[in-house]
Formats: sequence, C-alpha cells, structure tokens
Amino acid sequence: MSRTLIRNGLVITASDELSADVLIEDEKIVAVVDPAVAQGFTADTVIDATDRYVIPGGVDAHTHMEMPFGGTVASDTFETGTRAAAWGGTTTIVDFAIQPRGGSLREGLDAWHAKADGNCAVDYAFHMIMSDVTDSSLKEMEALIGEGITSFKLFMAYPGNLYSDDGRILRALQKGAETGGLIMMHAENGIAIDVLVEQALARGQSDPRYHGVVRHALLEAEATHRAIKLAQVAGAPIYIVHLSAIEALAEITRARDEGYNAFAETCPQYLYLSTADLARPGFEGAKYVCSTPLRPVDHQAALWRGLRTDDLSVVSTDHCPFCFKDQKELGLGDFSKIPNGLPGVETRMDLLHQAVLDGHIGRRRWIEIACATPARMFGLYPRKGTIAPGADADVVVYDPAAQQVLSAQTHHMNVDYSAYEGKAITGRAETVISRGRVIVDDGEYRGSAGHGRFQQRSTCQYLK
Ligand code: URP
Ligand code: ZN
Ligand code: ZN
Ligand code: ZN
Repeated sequence: MSRTLIRNGLVITASDELSADVLIEDEKIVAVVDPAVAQGFTADTVIDATDRYVIPGGVDAHTHMEMPFGGTVASDTFETGTRAAAWGGTTTIVDFAIQPRGGSLREGLDAWHAKADGNCAVDYAFHMIMSDVTDSSLKEMEALIGEGITSFKLFMAYPGNLYSDDGRILRALQKGAETGGLIMMHAENGIAIDVLVEQALARGQSDPRYHGVVRHALLEAEATHRAIKLAQVAGAPIYIVHLSAIEALAEITRARDEGYNAFAETCPQYLYLSTADLARPGFEGAKYVCSTPLRPVDHQAALWRGLRTDDLSVVSTDHCPFCFKDQKELGLGDFSKIPNGLPGVETRMDLLHQAVLDGHIGRRRWIEIACATPARMFGLYPRKGTIAPGADADVVVYDPAAQQVLSAQTHHMNVDYSAYEGKAITGRAETVISRGRVIVDDGEYRGSAGHGRFQQRSTCQYLK
C-alpha cells in the first residue's frame, strides 16, 4: 500500500474551505483531518501545501478528442488531450462517442473505446452523440445506460450531418424520461442558419466573422426554447450544452423559475472572448470559430451572473482543437468550411481561478462549477468532484499566486495556437494527482498513457 499525505493546505470543495491535511492510500482519499491529528500519520510521500489550495481534480464534462468534423479530425488525440488536461489540473474528462449515421450506438461507442483505451493520462467517460434516432437506437439507450453511458447529445444544428428533427428529439427525450438517461442539446436552429449561410456567401460575405452573424443569438434562443418545451412535453430534464447568448440564458432562467429541470453549461470562451476576436483581421478570426459562436462582449456579464445564480450550473470546455495551419485554413474564402471548435481543456481551471480573483465568482463556486456539479450532473459524484474519505484521490495542489502567461509556445495541447495568447493568469496547478499517482509535479510531467481508466457513470444525480 502507498500512502501520500498532503500537509498544511487550504482544502476547498463546493461546500467548504478548511485548513486540513489529506491522507491518500493507494487510489483513494482516506482522511481529511486537522493538521494536529495528522502529525501522527506516516506516509511514503509528503507534499507540503503551505500557501496552496488543495482542490478536487477538475471534471471537464465536454471534450472532443480526435473528433471527425468537416473533413478533418480534431488535433488532440486521447493521449495528447488528456495529458494537456492533466497539466491544467483536470483529472476527468467526459468525451463524446458518435453514432455513425445509418449505424448503431454500439458501433460508435466501440470505436471511441478503441481510440481511448490504453491512451489516456487521466480518467475518462463517454456521452453518446445520437446522430440517427431510430427504433433500434432508442432501444440501445437502455443497454448503454447499463454500461455507464448515461447521457445522450442531440443536435438541432448541422442538418444532413448530426441533426435531429423535433420528432426524433421528442422520442429521445421520452426515452430519457423513461430510462433516466439525460438528454444534452446542441441548441441552434440549424435549418434557419443554413439559409443565412447560403445568403451570406451569395453576397460575398465569406470571412470568419460572418460565422457569428449567421448563427444568430435568436436562433440559439429559439432552439433553446424549443428544446425546453419538447422536454416538458416528454416529462424529461434537459441539459443545454455550450450556451453563449443572453437570449438563450433567459429561456433557461424562465424554465427554472417555472420549476422545470432545465440545466445549462457555458464555456470559458464565451466568458472571455467575443465577436471582436471572430472579426480579427486577415483570417485570424478562424481561430475563434466554434458553435454556438462567440457573442458580442456584453453577453459576458449575463453569463457570469448566470453562473452566480446557478442558471448556468457547469463550465465545460467543449475542447475541440483544430490547427490554424491546414485545418482552420480549410475555410479560407468560405467561413462555413472552417472546422468548428476551440482548444481549451488545459486552461479551464486557471481561467476560472482568474474569475475568482476578478470577483465574478467565489472560490467554492469555482470548485462547484468546475468539479462537483459536472460530477453530480453526469453521475460521477462523490467518486469524482470532491475531497472526502472514499473519493478517488484526484487532487490538485493549486498555487493561487503563481504567475503565468497563456501561450501556444508553452501549452501542452496539440494545436498550433492559443485562443488566449498573451493572457496573464494568476494561479496554476502545481501538483496533480490522479487516483493516488502524482502525474504532474511542479512543472514536470510524470503521468503515462494508459493510467487513465474508463469510468462508468450512474444517471444524473441532480434529480436524486
Ligand atoms: O464548435 C464546436 N462546438 N465544435 C464541437 C462540436 C459541438 O457542437 O460541440
Ligand atoms: Zn455542440
Ligand atoms: Zn461539443
Ligand atoms: Zn497540429
């Protein structure tokens, strides 16, 4: 048995802050105790956390490693992407397996297991993207839930590809209500957006900034509204992914005020970046093309407020990196051909710590939206997302005073740019422990591909 003792830190969870020592035996946390009590403990490894926070490893509930999109594939593999996650203090990711059109959920899931198995530096789980809702794929949902795949993403965007119409969405929501599977929605009116794309291109509006124009905030709000109403008809909860617009947030707020189980996440890019980035000169804006798109800067204050009121419950990254060279460049002369997605799995914990320093959220709320709630929402709590006896020893010793400058020169994601190039951040993960093993140690990587294990999830714990 191996014993690790983390001494003299400030332990922060979603509910508490206390000066305590944390004892780890093998893969589990076994004690969180007063430092005076821990004086009597012996350990093989002692980590001094004086002036440091001791926080749960981050849980990023929305990543796309090696995702095929628009004729190319997201540039982080499960190996490189989970290593970058580790560097940034994230010790669990939930990625999206994709059902092939005309194929089964099983085929998609098997393919994603094959990509991840033996390659991950940190623990991982899967949601299932349903791209083809049929009698047989609806039936498969039950079997998948039994294997720990308890959430299913549908798309109101991307007609002809991942898109589901309202009838298919309703049927999936009904199955969700029946089985406990949580339906996650990409809420944008893709049919209307495609009309606007065609019209913009016909006018010669081909620059990246038009991606933000055609993916209108009202078309996010409309789809969010429709998704919520379909969920109410089905008697199912709903989780809206990557919410970016004030108008969409208002739909969530209203549904919650009316007593419905509508949940939503946002992502750091919507909190820190804006249409000004999409409009950068030349083709630079392509680096900022993602869907839902970045919004005008005044949306940010509403999103921060939503995070404080819990109308936004989770911050995930939607990490889906494409290199500027050769990948984003596929859309030179036609913004609709720019692969959608931003890198971010490495920087989420730090950007949210910066938000604590900037006064947007408190320290415990930081841990709640980045660790505890995503774990509860997706059935990983309290194994993940907190520091308590019995939890997996996924622990980050966080230096709240460390200075860093975000840059593609120094990040570990396999992508040739940073969306936050040059941004100064205070705070950094110093020591990262995944199931009892130190995988990042003060600027040195000590993890390995294959340490990360697949995590079966229970159904959403928010409604239990
Ligand atoms: O632009 C994005 N978000 N790319 C990833 C796919 C998705 O819709 O989440
Ligand atoms: Zn999406
Ligand atoms: Zn996504
Ligand atoms: Zn690359």
